[in-house]
Amino acid sequence: MRKILIAIDGYSACGKSTTAKKVAAIFGYQYIDSGAMYRAVTLFFLNHHISITNPKAITKALSEIHLSFHVNLHGQTEIFLNGANVEKKIRKMRISENVSPVSTIREVRQAMVTQQHKLGKDKGIVMDGRDIGTVVFPEAELKLFLTADIQVRAWRRQQELLEKGSLIDLDSIITNITERDRIDSSRKESPLLKADDALEIDTTHITIDEQVDEVVRLAVSRIMKK
Ligand code: CDP
Repeated sequence: MRKILIAIDGYSACGKSTTAKKVAAIFGYQYIDSGAMYRAVTLFFLNHHISITNPKAITKALSEIHLSFHVNLHGQTEIFLNGANVEKKIRKMRISENVSPVSTIREVRQAMVTQQHKLGKDKGIVMDGRDIGTVVFPEAELKLFLTADIQVRAWRRQQELLEKGSLIDLDSIITNITERDRIDSSRKESPLLKADDALEIDTTHITIDEQVDEVVRLAVSRIMKK
């Protein structure tokens, strides 16, 4: 069966990664969380006090950052920063509060997109993010753009964080995802945009299983297409 590229973009916390992980598992594809890459860069910048207005420091820092993805014993993909598993650290609010400004930096985006292209060169990839269907893989056979009501997104993110051991109040989550969406949608470099040929799925009133079924159905139709 031919392999395809599946690009899933959309606003913060609207179920992109949950869908992408499950769809990748069904097809035996690799799942790449591009947001994790921007989060790991943000962690490095914070830990090394890199100012986001200092281009020299940014270029030097990027040359010192090595990112890789590894699948753990439970079949989950985790991100490593310079050999250390940072999957848990990058999900903290401290990173969520700083990641969007870091993601506006052109040099950061260029470095990440170069790596993303390498990861997708043999296809058989589900990648989620903000610019996957528009900039990273404009040639992707299937492009999706997920949306959901802000209250539902915030509640889902609160549950996710709770499962990871952090109790964060709903208002802080709403403030964070609203602010990230604002910065991500209005930045100059690769803003969050629905690609013209992306299919929009509103996940507000559907379950994860329904969401996954719909994407699998669409992917099969693309795989079968000559
Ligand atoms: O999972 P969640 O929706 O919270 O966000 P994420 O996918 O982990 O992405 C975190 C942040 O990284 C976003 O708010 C964007 O600022 C940035 N990002 C980006 O600029 N481009 C991407 N392809 C993916 C993420």
